[in-house]
Amino acid sequence: MATPFLDIRDLRVDFPTDDGVVHAVNGMDLTLERGDTIGIVGESGSGKTVTSQTLMGLLKETSARVTGQILFEGTDLVPLTENEMRPYRGRKIGMIFQDPLSAMHPFYTVGTQIAEAYRVHNRVSAKAARAQAIDMLARVGIPDPVSRYDSYPHEFSGGMRQRAMIAMALICEPELLIADEPTTALDVTVQAQILDLISSLQQETGSAVVYVTHDLGVVAEVCQRVIVMYGGQCVEQADMEDAFLRTAHPYTKGLLASMPSMADEAGRLTPIPGFPPSLLDLPQGCLFADRCPVAHLVPGNRCRTERPALHGAGSHRSRCHLSESLGTSEPITLEAAR
Ligand SMILES: Nc1ncnc2c1ncn2[C@@H]1O[C@H](COP(=O)(O)OP(=O)(O)O)[C@@H](O)[C@H]1O
Ligand SMILES: [Mg+2]
Repeated sequence: MATPFLDIRDLRVDFPTDDGVVHAVNGMDLTLERGDTIGIVGESGSGKTVTSQTLMGLLKETSARVTGQILFEGTDLVPLTENEMRPYRGRKIGMIFQDPLSAMHPFYTVGTQIAEAYRVHNRVSAKAARAQAIDMLARVGIPDPVSRYDSYPHEFSGGMRQRAMIAMALICEPELLIADEPTTALDVTVQAQILDLISSLQQETGSAVVYVTHDLGVVAEVCQRVIVMYGGQCVEQADMEDAFLRTAHPYTKGLLASMPSMADEAGRLTPIPGFPPSLLDLPQGCLFADRCPVAHLVPGNRCRTERPALHGAGSHRSRCHLSESLGTSEPITLEAAR
């Protein structure tokens, strides 16, 4: 079998803190082929950002404990040192954050920072880097890029700053772009423009994109596949159609029911009752058992005593004792199980 472009296996991230160990990521699995577009969704606190930070190697030289494998074109990034990670970060893997102000230095002009991102990985003159940055500013739709090159981040609107960060992330034409809540801070019309921009640049460069978002609507619009995270685990991974039409995990069901487009005639949403598990003290069984409407259907109290594995055949997998007991090859909808 050919080496997958990106293959994350049983990734775990622990943060030792004064209150105890925060188990932020508890077995994350994901595979991605070149040029693919996938979404990682889950409620706030489910470990999406920590997963993307780990992919970028941003937790190296912190107290975080990272185990498992992140095979990028066959090379495991987990054991790499900060220095060894450099050719990957920014060059092969680019990242867009939710808040461009935290990613850009307030004291340097936008253009300088984009040019610098290019020069870190390419041996070119300052003049050539400047030209490259101006070209990139134009490509992301910033009007009058020559004069905007000299603006400071705070002189840009939120949408323009997000465009500038996209320019910075894409100037080295990374093979993988991680977009962590790229549009969450923006208003709806700007959100749509930014998503369009990312996908048109993706078509030009052929890069793979991982969208990280709490918004299933964004994922449904732009992604081919979805990874649903809960409690730092992947609880379901599926092609978009399977995720919506043949949902296997009760948590994914709950997320779908809480989407604005799924509201009833009165406009009411159905939120998932209860709260996510404490990451300081994870339950022994399924992390979703406390909130799960179907845990009682699984015999022998298994959902409370045994952590389900990610099972299923082919591209559709789920971490649920019930969908497993109903047959692994074709996850059955929960209605059918009742
Ligand atoms: N540096 C850190 N130290 C301790 N806990 C952290 C750290 N970074 C993240 N966490 C915790 O890890 C969990 C997952 O966070 P995060 O990945 O940011 O969630 P998401 O992006 O899905 O909203 C949260 O409970 C968060 O508080
Ligand atoms: Mg986040």
